[in-house]
Amino acid sequence: MTGLLDNAQRYGFVTRALHWLMAAIFLWQFVGMGLRLALGRTPLVGFFVSSHGALGAVLFVLVAIRILWGLLNRNRRPAYEHGLLGLLAKAGHLGLYALMVIVPGLALLRAWGSGRGFQPFGIPVFPATGEQIAWATAPANALHGVLAWVLLVLIAGHVFMVLVHQFIFRDNVASRMLPAGQR
Ligand code: HEM
Ligand code: HEM
Repeated sequence: MTGLLDNAQRYGFVTRALHWLMAAIFLWQFVGMGLRLALGRTPLVGFFVSSHGALGAVLFVLVAIRILWGLLNRNRRPAYEHGLLGLLAKAGHLGLYALMVIVPGLALLRAWGSGRGFQPFGIPVFPATGEQIAWATAPANALHGVLAWVLLVLIAGHVFMVLVHQFIFRDNVASRMLPAGQR
């Protein structure tokens, strides 16, 4: 039971499962959209991109669960270091959370306002009304793509800092997000 919850040394099973499952889906989303930009509409791109909205909706649900779980565990998880680096780590993680909500959130608002209906994996979420709602589609039209790429840059910075911790500070921060016994 205790392995499910976070503790001062490492993140528990639930936090780790959410982190790595979501990282894998983000990778899929970015590879798909990267290929779409590079190659245009090809069958390979269709293979990745046809699930883009549905998987984005899954990410939106998962980030909501992750935020609730993070709040429940906020006094148990590994503490941020004192000083500037700890503050930057905290700001970076908050930025990741903000974009993990805003990027799919705006796209879902657009899907609702498009009037075309939205059925991820065949589950009816928004009905097709045939009516476009401009205030709901405009934010994602302007910002969904660009903020998604900003999120990718932040993720790259995040992974870079994990590598800096691992190979320069050698403080083994990575083990917090790995199963016990992995170093
Ligand atoms: C966190 C999840 C998501 C990520 C990381 C993501 C990422 C991206 C990226 C990188 C692009 C390409 C932008 C470009 O062409 O430069 C894009 C486009 C697009 N996404 Fe997403 N997306 C997510 C969720 C969603 C959801 C939930 C929907 C629909 C309900 C959606 C619908 C679209 C559409 C229609 C486009 C093409 C038009 C546009 O660029 O706005 N996305 N997304
Ligand atoms: C190869 C990819 C990744 C690696 C190696 C990695 C590694 C790590 C590690 C070692 C930690 C613990 C850091 C600490 O406690 O200070 C962590 C935490 C975190 N990571 Fe990642 N990560 C990856 C991808 C991602 C992605 C794609 C996202 C989000 C889009 C993300 C978001 C977070 C957040 C928000 C935390 C803080 C703990 C939490 O609230 O879950 N990571 N990551």
